[in-house]
Amino acid sequence: MKQSIYTIESNACVADKTWRMRLLGDTSGLERGGQFVDIAIAGRFLRRPIAATCWDAQGFDIIYKVVGQGTDEMSSMQPGTKLDILTGLGNGFDAGLTKDAALVVCGGVGASPAFSLVKELVRLGRKVTVVLGFNKESEIVLEDEYRTLGAHVIVATMDGSRGVKGLVTDAISLEKPEYDHFYTCGPKVMMKAVCEALEGNGEASLEERMGCGCGICYGCTCHTTDGPRRICADGPVFSKEEIIW
Ligand SMILES: Cc1cc2nc3c(=O)[nH]c(=O)nc-3n(C[C@H](O)[C@H](O)[C@H](O)COP(=O)(O)OP(=O)(O)OC[C@H]3O[C@@H](n4cnc5c(N)ncnc54)[C@H](O)[C@@H]3O)c2cc1C
Ligand code: FES
Repeated sequence: MKQSIYTIESNACVADKTWRMRLLGDTSGLERGGQFVDIAIAGRFLRRPIAATCWDAQGFDIIYKVVGQGTDEMSSMQPGTKLDILTGLGNGFDAGLTKDAALVVCGGVGASPAFSLVKELVRLGRKVTVVLGFNKESEIVLEDEYRTLGAHVIVATMDGSRGVKGLVTDAISLEKPEYDHFYTCGPKVMMKAVCEALEGNGEASLEERMGCGCGICYGCTCHTTDGPRRICADGPVFSKEEIIW
């Protein structure tokens, strides 16, 4: 874990209630897709955990949905604003678990944490199918960026305004993508359905309200076959087999 001051380079609305922010500063703590950062917002006691979408030597990007007061405040932050951020938190997805072909299933802003995983899978020469699920077309993020990486992208929307009408599991039943390992990130109910529907091994990135964000307070525990585990420090990524939904 690293604590540093970062400077906002850009902060723009990219979809319905969804913003993309680029922050300049030390990225040496970021190694794997699925890791997250914890952002201090002046006047608010708890930091806000948000996954890193991608990073380079100069900085990193996050994609966040405005759901409450903290993220609403973030959406009005201007370039040049400085933020106190913990980076390099969590374990992230393990791209090495895929032998030939990966299936990556994301719901809503869950499309963001998986982005650097897919970048790494492509770099390793793996075939990747990404299934992105949203309520409606106006919520879609990262579709083009995933295609640019070289992934086969399938979009599903609940209202049918784009791609397959229905759930990500409907799109998977229809398209039957080949894979030897799967990864999922998004709403808990979606990830549970994906883990129950898909055969074989997989990883899911869990989410819980966080206190410290770095393993001290035990405020973010989940139930696993190994007993209670901390989502911030032992996860957020767990294997399908160990999660007790
Ligand atoms: C590991 C991890 C990665 C995440 N990555 C992303 C991401 O990439 N993009 C994104 O849009 N959201 C992400 N979230 C959810 C994000 O943390 C919350 O949406 C955000 O903290 C809400 O803050 P708020 O002040 O707007 O909401 P409020 O409801 O006002 O927040 C009140 C408190 O509850 C916490 N809280 C509220 N909702 C959540 C939640 N779903 N998960 C954890 N804490 C929550 C807040 O951090 C804050 O401490 C992630 C959560 C976790 C745990
Ligand atoms: S949030 Fe404190 S241990 Fe996870």
